[in-house]
Amino acid sequence: MASDAAPAALGISGAGDDWAEACTPLRRNLQLLAPDEVELAKLLLNEGQSHLFEHWLEPGVDDDKKRSFFDQVRRLNSSYPGGLASYIQNARKLLADSKAGKNPYDGFTPSVPSGEILTFGDDNFVSLEESGVKEARHAAFVLVAGGLGERLGYKGIKVALPRETTTGKCFLQHYIESILALQDASCKLAEDKCHTKIPFVIMTSDDTNALTINLLESNSYFGMEPSQVNILKQEKVACLSDNDARLALDPNDKYKIQTKPHGHGDVHALLYSSGLLEQWKSTDRKWVLFFQDTNGLLFNAIPSALGVSATKGYNVNSLAVPRKAKEAIGGITKLTHVDGRTMVINVEYNQLDPLLRATGHPDGDANCETFYSPYPGNINQLILELGPYIEELKKTHGAISEFVNPKYTDSTKTTFKSSTRLECMMQDYPKTLPPSAKVGFTLMDTWLAYAPVKNNPEDAAKVPKGNPYHSATSGEMAIYKANSLILRKAGAQIADPVIDTFNGQEVEVWPRITWSPRWGLVFKDVKGKVHGNSSVSQRSALVINGKNIAVEGLSLDGTLIVNAIDEAEVEVTGHVENKGWTIQHVDHKDTSEKEEIRIRGFKFDKVEQLELNYTEPGQHSTKA
Ligand code: UTP
Repeated sequence: MASDAAPAALGISGAGDDWAEACTPLRRNLQLLAPDEVELAKLLLNEGQSHLFEHWLEPGVDDDKKRSFFDQVRRLNSSYPGGLASYIQNARKLLADSKAGKNPYDGFTPSVPSGEILTFGDDNFVSLEESGVKEARHAAFVLVAGGLGERLGYKGIKVALPRETTTGKCFLQHYIESILALQDASCKLAEDKCHTKIPFVIMTSDDTNALTINLLESNSYFGMEPSQVNILKQEKVACLSDNDARLALDPNDKYKIQTKPHGHGDVHALLYSSGLLEQWKSTDRKWVLFFQDTNGLLFNAIPSALGVSATKGYNVNSLAVPRKAKEAIGGITKLTHVDGRTMVINVEYNQLDPLLRATGHPDGDANCETFYSPYPGNINQLILELGPYIEELKKTHGAISEFVNPKYTDSTKTTFKSSTRLECMMQDYPKTLPPSAKVGFTLMDTWLAYAPVKNNPEDAAKVPKGNPYHSATSGEMAIYKANSLILRKAGAQIADPVIDTFNGQEVEVWPRITWSPRWGLVFKDVKGKVHGNSSVSQRSALVINGKNIAVEGLSLDGTLIVNAIDEAEVEVTGHVENKGWTIQHVDHKDTSEKEEIRIRGFKFDKVEQLELNYTEPGQHSTKA
């Protein structure tokens, strides 16, 4: 709708010299603007953004682009808590702090927070897993999957990558199957009739939304009911071109503001505005579990960590792994301010060491008698108690403390090498919590819980020796290692790994053992299904795909795949020997191979295997 408002009706105050400059091109185009667009124009001019209109031509030229400019401004305004004016004001303040070199931790003293340290497979671990499975029917899962994945450089979305290539199942399938397995197991433990469907939210962005929906739809949601899944798309935020927080225009389109991702912290505001949290509360949900796109080991940690949240009454529980001092992973830290404020929060590794040194710890971030830093490594998996979470979001509307990271052209810090933007991180949620909030961590072994796929082969190969590669190669090998160690703990004889190098990364190669989440959701399940003197040689691959498959004195030297429907009770026993699947090296530059293979640096030559399929209900005691 056109407006015939006179330029003076813009009612701009405090725009200073901008007013005169801005007025002319904008005034000439006023008749094009709908009333709400006039308001948005005022907002922009009041915030010193007149440059956005400087190049606007006469009405009749580029009118569609002018309208879509305001469509974009409307979106940017409505998707940020407090609107675009708040965004610009916050940016100005954070840019000034950055220029002044202000330390966000000024006045804070770090100390080691309290939390739970778990040992895989002991009685405490098993009982926490049981509590966690019980609680799972009161849980909702939230996957943040809006990231660009620039470091990995994969052309598709990360959740579509195979978690491991023995079965080829992608991360998203594994996550959904794990949630469904938890749902079933939890319902079984319920005293009353339980029909719960665990809600699953995926946060996407423009970069990942269509591909994520397509992946779900073309795979029938991997067995989940579509109504269980909610997709929330995060919007990007405006880029900033200078210390006055002037918004940057897109270099390819002068009628468009340049935008970039705001970070995974958006998930809180999106959940709040979606109304899902209240809905969950009314359907007896108690816990919200947040996780990231490519940690194939994560669900090994979920049951026990949820058990910790439930038994300790944690409002916030951060999953953590042991961290070597100065390792490039954030440390969970208790911060106490001189004014008495306290918070338990992730402190980035490059800030933790200087903070410790500045507060009376001359050695900075140093290993203690455990040979690890006393500050646990944050793996960005959070379990929040829903009730207190909702109360907090009512106050903040999900706004998360932001930061800005401009790359300055020189030490005067007056100009940027390229535009920047405000960012926020999901794990900064506890920053605004009152001191009464119960914030803790659950620490378990890295081999069990954490192997993300973030780095491309070239960068991974440059990682200093001893540090994790966090590549597709290490992410897959970590799954085989974890499953091998779990089976060992359950009493099976699993051969030692060999060392091999793929894409310039030296890794341990364990037997390629995988199972569906319905088979081995928690350690007790695995232990209850592996009996006798079972053994697996190093060159073997074992795929267990079915719920009721018992491994009874199996001796495997080759490849064995067992598929069974839930109603089939299968006992796999005897000696299986075949040529198996050999591992072949693949160069990451070899474009004749698929990208998902190239980035891991190996593939399987499926020479020979034994595949057993049980499609009929009943007991099957087949000697393999
Ligand atoms: P990463 O730190 O891995 O970032 O995000 P990224 O953007 O995916 O990858 P790089 O840094 O460009 O290489 C951790 C998690 O947060 C999600 C990612 O999808 C991943 O699950 N994320 C990140 C979002 O959902 N939104 C964002 O804006 C950024």
